[in-house]
Amino acid sequence: MKNLTEQQLLDNYQKLVDIVENTFEGERKENLLKMYKFFEDRIIVAPASGKPNYHYCFAGGYVEHVLHIVDTAKKLMKVYESIGAVIDFTEEELVFCALHHDLGKVGDLEHEYYLVQEDDWRRKKLNEWFTQNPEMQFMGVTDRALWLLQHFDVKVSQLEWLAIKVSDGMYDDANVQYLKTFKPEHSFQSSLPYLIHWADHMATRAEYTEWKYSEKKTTEKVNKSVTNIKQAVGKQVKEKVETQPSASAKDLFDELFGDK
Ligand SMILES: [Fe+2]
Repeated sequence: MKNLTEQQLLDNYQKLVDIVENTFEGERKENLLKMYKFFEDRIIVAPASGKPNYHYCFAGGYVEHVLHIVDTAKKLMKVYESIGAVIDFTEEELVFCALHHDLGKVGDLEHEYYLVQEDDWRRKKLNEWFTQNPEMQFMGVTDRALWLLQHFDVKVSQLEWLAIKVSDGMYDDANVQYLKTFKPEHSFQSSLPYLIHWADHMATRAEYTEWKYSEKKTTEKVNKSVTNIKQAVGKQVKEKVETQPSASAKDLFDELFGDK
């Protein structure tokens, strides 16, 4: 369990924005930056999952996970090539899919996806630290990711769409039709969808082992993370009610995590 400092949260978010700045260009870059600005306050503190035994269940876990996938995917691309594979996709396509495979976890336009679990019994017995927002329209995470990208007018190629769609591999029944085919003409025409799934699977498992063998796996650490999220959620609700423009990330975190 990590307990990221205010500076680490902001640094991670800046790394993510830098990747967007340095990887894409033109309208796609501008629209991605607009999308990240819209979700900025929410993305910075979002966890990557609802249970510590899944992966990166702490404030800032989402961005850490996404950065981890981008790094893992780039490394796997080199390994894949070194064992004889022909790389039939670009690094831009790889990074685009790695960056956005879990975008649906930030929620939709009005709602955040993960809410702090207020039920003590569920938290203690089921280890459920965050719960999925019941007010949201149900959608799979990858479906929401693709919907959000189109909402912000971010062009997604057919190959990128497929790679994001099947990033959970066989863990999502909806992917069976794409992954379990015996007709050569139905199999993927590029290795990108496999690379994204391998990267996500491998990095997620690494994150699990990081939690499992961490000496910092203490209830206090989890509680601190949950408290941070609770404060962040409270702040967002307050802003919404007051219909004031969102505070900048710096102001938000000064208030939430700064020295009192
Ligand atoms: Fe993921």
